Amino acid sequence: MNNGVYRDQYEQSITDPTTFWGNAAHAIEWITPPTTVLDDSHVPFYRWFTDGTLNTCFNAVDRHVRDGRGDQDAILYDSPVTGTKRRITYAELQDQVARLAGGLTDLGVTKGDRVVIYMPMIPEAVIGMLACARIGAVHSVVFGGFAPAELSARIEDAAPKVILSASCGIEPTRVIEYKPFLDAGIERSSHTPEKVVILQREQAPAELTQGRDLDWAEFVAASQPADCVEVAATDPLYVLYTSGTTGRPKGIVRDNGGYAVALRWSMENIYDVKPGEVMFTASDVGWVVGHSYIVYAPLLTGATTVLYEGKPVGTPDAGAFWRIVDEYQAVALFTAPTAFRAIKKEDANAELLAEHDVSSLRNLFLAGERLDPDTYEWASSILGIPVVDNWWQTETGWPIAANLRGLEPMPIKAGSPSVAVPGFDVQVVDEVGNQCDPGNEGAIVIKLPMPPGTLPTLWGDDERYVESYLSAFEGYYLTGDGGMIDEDGYIYVMGRTDDVLNVAGHRLSTGAIEAALAGHPDVAECCVIGVHDDFKGQEPRGFVVLKAGVDPFADGERITKELVQRVRNEVGAVASLKRVDIVTALPKTRSGKILRKTMREIADGKPFTVPGTIEDASVLDDLSPVLRGHKMG
Ligand code: COA
Ligand code: AMP
Repeated sequence: MNNGVYRDQYEQSITDPTTFWGNAAHAIEWITPPTTVLDDSHVPFYRWFTDGTLNTCFNAVDRHVRDGRGDQDAILYDSPVTGTKRRITYAELQDQVARLAGGLTDLGVTKGDRVVIYMPMIPEAVIGMLACARIGAVHSVVFGGFAPAELSARIEDAAPKVILSASCGIEPTRVIEYKPFLDAGIERSSHTPEKVVILQREQAPAELTQGRDLDWAEFVAASQPADCVEVAATDPLYVLYTSGTTGRPKGIVRDNGGYAVALRWSMENIYDVKPGEVMFTASDVGWVVGHSYIVYAPLLTGATTVLYEGKPVGTPDAGAFWRIVDEYQAVALFTAPTAFRAIKKEDANAELLAEHDVSSLRNLFLAGERLDPDTYEWASSILGIPVVDNWWQTETGWPIAANLRGLEPMPIKAGSPSVAVPGFDVQVVDEVGNQCDPGNEGAIVIKLPMPPGTLPTLWGDDERYVESYLSAFEGYYLTGDGGMIDEDGYIYVMGRTDDVLNVAGHRLSTGAIEAALAGHPDVAECCVIGVHDDFKGQEPRGFVVLKAGVDPFADGERITKELVQRVRNEVGAVASLKRVDIVTALPKTRSGKILRKTMREIADGKPFTVPGTIEDASVLDDLSPVLRGHKMG
């Protein structure tokens, strides 16, 4: 393996991060260039480019217009669900972002204020994010597939002055009205936003709430463009909530300076996308992949981003991605492995691929969940280009491990996202923090400091940040994933070591689904586990114990149906909870902790361990057949 360039750069990033990231920072236009690269004066809190100032929107939009890219497409909106296509040049984007920023300023939104964005995959969602960045407001995008409980938890924590939303989202099978979810989300939160700006879509216009809601089109038409404001590199650009094990989501903070530097570096070195080229990231602006590689990284690079409001299959068929690559000459396609499993299911012989010219495509990138070798092999064989697994998290904002296609392409090993990305000192440790030998599994940790772009803390909660991520092993960030590193430095990620779920590339919390189940009047106790699923990677399964006096034989069927519906209404359809079993008891330790890991292992047909602290082993014996898929008899 010839990895001289990578090896040198990686070494420098770890031994001399100041020089490495100081050099990378030149790709960003600063108002005041930073003199401090890494500030380690408040360990374990590390900050990057502390005395630098800039504006992220300027770097993503205005700068390119000034430098002659005004007529280049910034966004290619392609929406098979509405039959719409729209090209937005950098000059048009600048105008629309500045106007919305002006409107937000008129509403009193200023630097540091939060704006929640609850929108589908339409250009206005991106314009909303950039408008916030322009005036130094902190956006918090909530995935459109989340229902009121998830939305209200985010409104409560972020306390937004304004919410930007749309009247509906469009799924292949139905139109989803946002307004009822939005109203319920606000109603349940102790914080009330002052104004809600709603983009009316003709598929389901919403009735506006007098005195609170504003019509997007009128609002923008009446506003004057606002200019970019100067913010500190360490000021927050956004808060993106992600699922932990409890029902309370974690507000991942992203700063301006470090994020811009890291993303700009990643575009050419990892994703091999250059200014003027087209990147097609088929994800959602509600997830971190969308924040980084639909919105900020392509635009910071002066590239063109495809904003796709559709699915890999069914809109209209499994050839949708190939059509887009062909039509827009995309050089990189980035999506989740589940999307490829969906395409394979519908078009195993890739007949629809043959109808398109995808020769512009240099690499396929897959992330968001484990890339299983079968999917890797299939994608490689039909496309004949490198299929590049990359491993990261909402917390890190950009890849921890990847095959760095622009810096130095390396041999790909199926089942591994390749090597540690410069800046990430990735290690595998055992329960007491000793480094594991190559090939031995343990907890994957990252030695502090993590590089620019990664989370500096949790929104308003330094303590929880330290407790959740930094307290297991001093001086290390705990990723929550387990895995190993081989003799060649290739990292293998086997899955979460905690109870976080990953369903079809969507990160979900067991705690949030449990809270929805527990809210049913007949439920005494419940638990949710993620079990293996060949298509979605994992699917959640619920187990409930009914309150005394409720008859499972007479009422069981009604109750389980109601429970499935409750989770859809509270967490969202995206939770995909299809099966709830009524059981007589849940297996617990003597201190009352539910044995989720053992349950998961039994359900997946793996060897399992029963802790010596189990309260009553017969509960587990009774439950085992149900876990393996049988109905409770
Ligand atoms: N708004 C509202 N509802 C949504 C939604 C959204 N943005 N996204 C998904 N849903 C709904 C779906 O309509 C579906 O509803 P249903 O149960 O009534 O059919 C439910 O949530 C489950 O959705 P999903 O898990 O996506 O399954 P699916 O069968 O509809 O689609 C795939 C399967 C593979 C096509 C889809 O999961 C996919 O594209 N996955 C890739 C995920 C991804 O991009 N992750 C980001 C990380 S890169
Ligand atoms: P999210 O924060 O939604 O991006 O989810 C992050 C989690 O998804 C990680 O902690 C992993 O468990 C999983 N994940 C993401 N990418 C990969 C990958 N390439 N391989 C294995 N797991 C992944």
